[in-house]
Amino acid sequence: MTQPIVILTGAGISKESGLDTFRDADGIWAKVRIEDVATPEAFARNPARVQEFFNTRRRGLLNPNIQPNAAHRALARLEAEWPSEVVLVTQNIDDLHERAGSRNLRHIHGELLKARCASCGDVRECRADLAVAMVCQSCGEAGGLRPHVVWFGEMPFDLDAVYAALSRCGTFISIGTSGNVYPAAGFVAEARANGAHTVELNLEPSEGRTLFAEADHGPATSIVPAYVERLLKAARV
Ligand code: APR
Repeated sequence: MTQPIVILTGAGISKESGLDTFRDADGIWAKVRIEDVATPEAFARNPARVQEFFNTRRRGLLNPNIQPNAAHRALARLEAEWPSEVVLVTQNIDDLHERAGSRNLRHIHGELLKARCASCGDVRECRADLAVAMVCQSCGEAGGLRPHVVWFGEMPFDLDAVYAALSRCGTFISIGTSGNVYPAAGFVAEARANGAHTVELNLEPSEGRTLFAEADHGPATSIVPAYVERLLKAARV
């Protein structure tokens, strides 16, 4: 009997699609300070600066050259062909998993292509620049529209569903994440405590390397399709 799989992805899975990671030498946090663009305090202090940071990333994501890669597609194939449930938990705010065909998806750090009104909570698609003076189409308030993205110090989304999935999965696979940011970095320990087999697929060993029963290191577009093929082949026997 094949058991459910929980997958956690981070910025490394989107790197070969042309999107920057955060903590690599050429990463986002090497160019801009978290305290200036990714906290509620930063937004209160200088909302235009925060909006511009996310507007630049949103325009980058909407560039036609940015497309899902073979790793995103392999995870969509796994979800379609695995005989049991596959839950994809992503820290990424891009939409490359959706565009590759993944459906059972939890964006625990939010979504760059959505905006939320701080006044009424309305969340809707956003594919254009956000500006401080913009008016919410739901409540008519101005000044409260923000990216529907989780900032440092805020609570990630869907954690109850994620921990429920971790409690019943047979395999936990972590892909393209440095294991630096909690609660996501703690998911492997949770899965392991519940008896799951734990796998790390990453360019290099992550902070949580000792917690994984199995690991493969290399570019995601190479090691993820190969791992998915091995999993599906083993399930067919
Ligand atoms: N293939 C596989 N892994 C890769 C590749 C690649 N081509 N390129 C880089 N990586 C790995 C790096 O070795 C690193 O371990 O991806 C990981 C990226 O780590 P981070 O830059 O820290 O990104 P992530 O783990 O997703 O960050 C978590 O921190 O800043 C917050 O909210 C932000 O969601 C983000 C969270």
